[in-house]
Amino acid sequence: MPEPAAVELVKIKQMRIFNDLESGLKAVSVTGLGYVGLPLALQMAQHFRVIAFDRCPARIEMMNRGKDPSNEIDADEFEGKKIEFTSDEADLRKAHFHIVTVPTPIDQRRVPEMSALFDASRSVAKSLKKGDYVIYESTVYPGCTEEDCVPLLEENSGLKSGVDFKLGYSPERINPGDKIHTVNKIVKVVSAQDEQSLEEVSAVYSKITSGGIYKAPSIKVAEAAKVIENTQRDLNIAFVNELAIIFQKMGINTREVLETASTKWNFMPFKPGLVGGHCIGVDPYYLLYKTRKLGYEPEVILSGRRINDSMHLWVAKKLVQLLTSKGVNPVKSKVLVMGLSFKENVTDIRNSKVFDLIAELRSFGVEVEMVDPLADPAEVKKLYGESVTESPVGPYDAVLLAVPHRFYSDLSEEYLQKLLKADGVFFDLKSVYAGRIKNLNHYMI
Ligand SMILES: NC(=O)c1ccc[n+]([C@@H]2O[C@H](COP(=O)([O-])OP(=O)(O)OC[C@H]3O[C@@H](n4cnc5c(N)ncnc54)[C@H](O)[C@@H]3O)[C@@H](O)[C@H]2O)c1
Repeated sequence: MPEPAAVELVKIKQMRIFNDLESGLKAVSVTGLGYVGLPLALQMAQHFRVIAFDRCPARIEMMNRGKDPSNEIDADEFEGKKIEFTSDEADLRKAHFHIVTVPTPIDQRRVPEMSALFDASRSVAKSLKKGDYVIYESTVYPGCTEEDCVPLLEENSGLKSGVDFKLGYSPERINPGDKIHTVNKIVKVVSAQDEQSLEEVSAVYSKITSGGIYKAPSIKVAEAAKVIENTQRDLNIAFVNELAIIFQKMGINTREVLETASTKWNFMPFKPGLVGGHCIGVDPYYLLYKTRKLGYEPEVILSGRRINDSMHLWVAKKLVQLLTSKGVNPVKSKVLVMGLSFKENVTDIRNSKVFDLIAELRSFGVEVEMVDPLADPAEVKKLYGESVTESPVGPYDAVLLAVPHRFYSDLSEEYLQKLLKADGVFFDLKSVYAGRIKNLNHYMI
């Protein structure tokens, strides 16, 4: 029997696309250069020639200057890479291993909005050649790649999937604001149509991560695994959010309960809070969409979504109750909301639940000012029609720390006191000041 290393060597020798990519004969393309696509394209460009395509010329112009429009990547990471940024889809013809990383959001009715994915599939299809690979990384429902994307690839290329070109799915696990679990360090799940294509796809991805490759048994399994990773998080957060509502009624401190329970070896320490962004609050709806098509109405997933989607209402009501209990008329009150992005330490304000929270506070007549040095005031205006306060002066009846960016996690009590009226409320939504506030009315959930 041949040695395992010899078997590996034979496999690598048989890999046509991987070898051609490694030698520089062929190139990788990445379509959609956002949170997921840009870091991936830059990693790929350390090893292969890369055509990095985005349909937004303004974003391409920034990347050509070494600037990440999402503000996640430093300028020096653009240096010395074999990468061509382009907004011309015809440039995709220069590549043979196509990766699709476009957004997969939901619409107003919370139904998957697939137009970017389908447009990107058509763009790639127009450049598809015999022997090419198409790998999807966008989060989708199980079956989407083979049942919905392949017909578009075939129609627009005149080629046959599995025969003329090969298909793969490799879900992205990027976590915005997280500098530890980056694309080059995490386990990368890969899947493909057959054994040979799975080897090729694994070989390509194994170049960019030191975290290892996990070969999923099928494309559908990989799609399903991705969508449940975030659905599980959503449900766990929904559970602690519900506990916060219950314990408040019981007059018990939720944080103290969670800290106490966390002393058990297998208790999972989730924290209550708002669930916004493009993944945790969105991906369950992809699973739901497919599930409903199959005639099944999920109960657990939906109830978790309902809790998380309405948490801002509960927080707003709680703050109004706190103000009232201090003798402050909400209609005459002024509140400062600190932090606007969908999570800590990111600039992205899209899908942030903080704006829903602000709207709810206003429905009680509260006057709200908002501040977030990470949020672009022009974007806040464009997306939400709101004005950001540059430097808050107060005094406010309450300060609501909604998104505790690093620089908001270490404010002095004196500073907070200056912002607040006498007897004002400091509402610390994520409990980052637990045990550190001596004199203020400090409220945590
Ligand atoms: N952001 C995350 O934390 C994260 C994590 C894991 C997985 N994902 C998934 O990865 C995918 C991409 O998300 P993202 O956060 O990187 O999106 P994003 O909104 O940050 O960026 C998407 C980019 O794609 C471009 N684009 C849109 N349609 C295009 C098209 N037809 N052709 C070319 N370019 C196009 C946009 O101009 C933009 O630059 C989604 O499916 C998302 O669910 C995101």
